[in-house]
Amino acid sequence: KVYTDYFFDEPAYNTHDGGYIPLVTSKVDPQPLAIPPLLQPDRQTDTDDYYTVTAQESETQFLPGKKTKTWGYNAGFLGQTIVFRNGKQTHIDLQNKLPELTTFHWHGLNVPGPITDGGCHAPVYPGQTNHIDFKVHQPAATTWLHAHPCPSTATQVWKGLATMVIIKDDVEDQLPLPRNYGVDDIPMVLQDREFHEDNQFDYRADYDPDGVQGHTALVNGTVNPYFDVTTQRVRLRILDGSNRREWRLHFNDDLEFAQVGSDGGILPAPVYMTKVMMTCAERDEIVVDFGNYQPGDEVTLMTDDTPLCRFRIKAFEPDDTTLPDHLVDIPDEAPTADLPVRKITMDGMDDEVALNGKKFDMERIDARQKVGDVAIWEIRNTNSTENGMVHPFHVHGTQFTVLSRNGGPVYPNEHGLKDTVGVNPGETVRIKVKFELTGVYMYHCHIIEHEDGGMMAQIESYDPEHPQTYHLMDMDTL
Ligand code: C2O
Ligand code: CU
Ligand code: CU
Repeated sequence: KVYTDYFFDEPAYNTHDGGYIPLVTSKVDPQPLAIPPLLQPDRQTDTDDYYTVTAQESETQFLPGKKTKTWGYNAGFLGQTIVFRNGKQTHIDLQNKLPELTTFHWHGLNVPGPITDGGCHAPVYPGQTNHIDFKVHQPAATTWLHAHPCPSTATQVWKGLATMVIIKDDVEDQLPLPRNYGVDDIPMVLQDREFHEDNQFDYRADYDPDGVQGHTALVNGTVNPYFDVTTQRVRLRILDGSNRREWRLHFNDDLEFAQVGSDGGILPAPVYMTKVMMTCAERDEIVVDFGNYQPGDEVTLMTDDTPLCRFRIKAFEPDDTTLPDHLVDIPDEAPTADLPVRKITMDGMDDEVALNGKKFDMERIDARQKVGDVAIWEIRNTNSTENGMVHPFHVHGTQFTVLSRNGGPVYPNEHGLKDTVGVNPGETVRIKVKFELTGVYMYHCHIIEHEDGGMMAQIESYDPEHPQTYHLMDMDTL
């Protein structure tokens, strides 16, 4: 079966929003897609990896003429790609060379909250270096790192503080998937930006409480990119790293592709499709087979009607590898008996956004769940079905499974582990959530302006035998 639709509710597409900013086809000459270098460890043993991640100011050449002032992780804009290995003890120096405080949030990583997780309670002040240690304990996946200070996550991500974090493991190693980084295993961070006078960003000028957008699409920070295809099969690790934008991806000739991974790792089975829609913070890994093209051909990845990246076909060796029908097993634990369903509403739009009717408060713990319990959460988007928005619901520190949409089946590409799920206006989505570690974790809408605007709450994962108290920051102590 080949799926040929986007699944999400069409009336809720961001294109219907009054403030929607359409992407324009770039007039800049095509440029090679930037492939971020891999962050090299400071030191590595069989059991331990040591890294330094530096948040820094820089300037980046996006457009002809003036460079743009940007921020990045060990890079000018975005960052170097970080690779972790499941089972390894990992030690990271988090260095802040910016003029303001930031935090380093490991989106999709199963690490203790709230400090290692790097949400708003873990500031690193300018000129300082914090240190974290954790054991990587989850399957191979495409995750990411981004800034998360309250309430300026959106401005810091807009300046460039986001980068891909790839987790590897022995299971994924055995699958017939491309994994030669930069050659046939390609990160693609999708974002949009507005360029103002002298090619500068101006977040304030572009501000919209429903999410900031720009006219120019960037892939890994490249305007109008092309990629030279030198292998028959190419794996794309796509991240919606934009503040607000949804991406409705398809090839200009409706080339079929296979989705093999979602936020939390490899899917149980490949899903064959010609279209895929991504909401903010979601990751999709797809495998594209270019076997029917000739050297010199070009096929273009589009979002709606805008070209995003041109794939220029070069000579390659024939590759008859096919994907198995079964890829990995997804844990399916029964919900813990007698637990009430946790009900969450995602309310409002613009400045009115809230979770369960409340704005975020850094010092308030909104909910508690026993570590190891498997709980059903029911998330309802209370926006009107006529003019509401899709709210991408994200939980820190866990990978959940999506159980149902309005009591019915989930989308065909939602059978793997997820940490972010798009909830349509008027829709109720049930997910199954388990925390394996204790800590205070945030959950929120991942339209970053909604998150900064208060559509966010926090839950304590607790161990009754080892009660903990947390030093929660407030805006004033920051
Ligand atoms: Cu991408 Cu609170 O996270
Ligand atoms: Cu997160
Ligand atoms: Cu939202």
